[in-house]
Amino acid sequence: MKDAQGLAGVTVGDTAISTVGKSGVGLTYRGYDIHDLANHASFESVAYLLLYGELPREEILKNYQEKLSKLRALPFEVSNCLKNIPVSANPMDVLRTGFSLLGTIEPENSESFDRVVAVAPVLLLTWLKKQDIKLIEKSTAVYFLKGLHGISPEPFSCRALDISLILYAEHEFNASTFAARVTASTLSDVYSCMTTGVGTLRGVLHGGANEEAMKLIQLFSEPGHAEQGVKKMLSEKKLIMGFGHRVYTKEDPRSAVVKELARKLAEKNQQQKLFDIADRIENVMWAEKKLFPNLDFYSALVYHFMGIPTELFTPLFVLSRVTGWLAHVKEQRTHNKLIRPLANYIGPAPRELL
Ligand code: COA
Repeated sequence: MKDAQGLAGVTVGDTAISTVGKSGVGLTYRGYDIHDLANHASFESVAYLLLYGELPREEILKNYQEKLSKLRALPFEVSNCLKNIPVSANPMDVLRTGFSLLGTIEPENSESFDRVVAVAPVLLLTWLKKQDIKLIEKSTAVYFLKGLHGISPEPFSCRALDISLILYAEHEFNASTFAARVTASTLSDVYSCMTTGVGTLRGVLHGGANEEAMKLIQLFSEPGHAEQGVKKMLSEKKLIMGFGHRVYTKEDPRSAVVKELARKLAEKNQQQKLFDIADRIENVMWAEKKLFPNLDFYSALVYHFMGIPTELFTPLFVLSRVTGWLAHVKEQRTHNKLIRPLANYIGPAPRELL
């Protein structure tokens, strides 16, 4: 039974949505290389690709972005409730609650999939009391940054966030997507699937790693200090967050893209030292453990350089990954079979009660 621990290496179903780590193919969304999408597409066009199977032509994309803008308004019951959640709450709990709450007011209907994509940033901004109902932006990245900071964001930051959302959108049968598919396989509603996804992404071994990576980088005042600190942590068998991957063995193909964004933002913001610390941690991890940074490591720096508070890093992952979850819910429903594996029983032998 040891080999199947954590279902490592076990193929549990078919998907036509993405490839992860297939030799010679890398990471693709519906056949498109992730680097091409990061260079030439927008997050909304990738959302459309994942949900509807093809990249939208210009006119269709325009209509889709307008549709998302119109779907952003929250029912009063939901916004009122979110505003009453303490600011000290964990933002992932807020998102989990927000999706669940919306499902009580608006049971699933034909618009719900697009509605989920549209409202994800609004749930967060409403809780933060930063939602501006007059704010209409076709880009999710611009909408979020403008709402959060209350000023027009810098174009480079907008594009960097857009690229980050593209890279975070989909990743085959990762833990949260698989969990969402299990929920979908019981023929549950889409809001329950999203609630499952958020709850699963919240953990530090999955989405929560980007926040932990930032806290790690900030522990150190200079690269030499980081080298000593990380070596000490490794000698104590501690996990270094933002490194390693269950499927990739040599590199995470998304990492170089976000590292470059982090490098440019560091230059623009004159925060070279923080970037150098991260770079040194990367070198130490490779030299000591042959472990490489995953998407979360440099994404943390990218978000930090945009002035996004660390506790919103994993929620930003949600804003993007909802598109992957939704695509998988659709796919699961198309060829549904209840997901119900078996367990290897290792408990006591049958025994008498009296
Ligand atoms: N820091 C230090 N050691 C690590 C490590 C890390 N980030 N990731 C893996 N290792 C070590 C493990 O301790 C283990 O060592 P051992 O054989 O001496 O016990 C070995 O590498 C294999 O790791 P394992 O935990 O079995 O791999 P996994 O496939 O179950 O785990 C992750 C994959 C992603 C959960 C794991 O790499 C991890 O915890 N990374 C940090 C969290 C993170 O960044 N998550 C985001 C993933 S995209």
